[in-house]
Amino acid sequence: MKFELTKKFSERYGQEPAAHYFTPGRVNLIGEHIDYNGGLVMPCAVTLGTWLVLAPNNDNVIRFNSLNFEEQAEIQLADSYTKTGPEWYNYPLGVFNELQKEHRIPTGLDLLFFGNIPIGSGLSSSASIEVAMTYALNHYFNLGLDKIEIPLLAQRVENQFIGVNCGIMDQFAVAFGETDKALVLNCDTLKHKVVDCNLGEFNLAIINTNKPRKLAESKYNERVAECQTALKQLNEEIKLHNLCELNAEKFALHSHLITDETVLKRATHVIRENDRVGLAAKALNEGNLQEFGRLMYASHQSLKDLYEVTGAELDAVVEFCTGYKDVIGARMTGAGFGGCAIALLKKGSEDDFTEKLTDFYTERIGYAPSVYISEIGHGASAI
Ligand code: GLA
Repeated sequence: MKFELTKKFSERYGQEPAAHYFTPGRVNLIGEHIDYNGGLVMPCAVTLGTWLVLAPNNDNVIRFNSLNFEEQAEIQLADSYTKTGPEWYNYPLGVFNELQKEHRIPTGLDLLFFGNIPIGSGLSSSASIEVAMTYALNHYFNLGLDKIEIPLLAQRVENQFIGVNCGIMDQFAVAFGETDKALVLNCDTLKHKVVDCNLGEFNLAIINTNKPRKLAESKYNERVAECQTALKQLNEEIKLHNLCELNAEKFALHSHLITDETVLKRATHVIRENDRVGLAAKALNEGNLQEFGRLMYASHQSLKDLYEVTGAELDAVVEFCTGYKDVIGARMTGAGFGGCAIALLKKGSEDDFTEKLTDFYTERIGYAPSVYISEIGHGASAI
């Protein structure tokens, strides 16, 4: 890959690259729609990701090129930038804009990106490109950002430049991921632990519903707002910064303050899902994969009934998994509204699973899903 990218870079820019970087995508094993409520999540990095190759130029411009997209851009160096449309290069441009606020990037740049995360699949292609750019510029220009500042800056870009009010999970996971480990991240304190992700006789299967996620961003922001309403109402009686400061027992004492039925459902999901992450971390530590799988199914059910972010496609995948003998747990992963599900699938059953799931899903939904067997990769690095 590195060799190939070097060649393409030289062809496009007529100069050799000065540095190469890789940043992965992520799956979230459990703890969905929890990060922006200050609770526990359990993501891990995958081996799909974004490559970034760069070199400085003397032309006072930033050139954005990608092997995935036709659109290219050449943008004059300036003090600040704004988002110009839906094009992919707004993500790295947003990072450049954010970095410029504190650090002067001393020169123009030629950039070449390549990614193999299916876009819109919920595997964090956007966090991957944001962190790739942040990590690369910090490393190449020695900007001195602390490791934790990298995902925080990338999240600000997503929130303020791109306009999605996401939490910290994706950017954190793709920056801090470790090979064969799951991260248990406390999204309030930003402290994390790593847990051995030893799946024994099982593999982690990723099932892409291949459903385009059209309304995902507005629906996502709507869920964030609903959780803020719940927090505000609970604060009439107790002092809370985040919903996840409550466990199920304490929540039951105060939930009468939430007047809207939909908002109550959202908050109930958050409280229970946060408790499930603690249980799941314990199960994984003890090698109790059956229990881990049970918690995955429970998580999906709650995202379906209470948080209402699954939809026919993700539900069809999980319904199939529930009835398939060699799967012990499955759930949607990421924001939902389409995108991907994950399943713990017995090694050796990959072909049979893919064939039978494809028949079932195609008959129900009208087109086929894609199945990948994933390894757990490492976070952003120079290569
Ligand atoms: C998206 C967001 C994350 C997180 C998940 C849901 O991936 O970017 O911050 O909220 O959805 O868990």
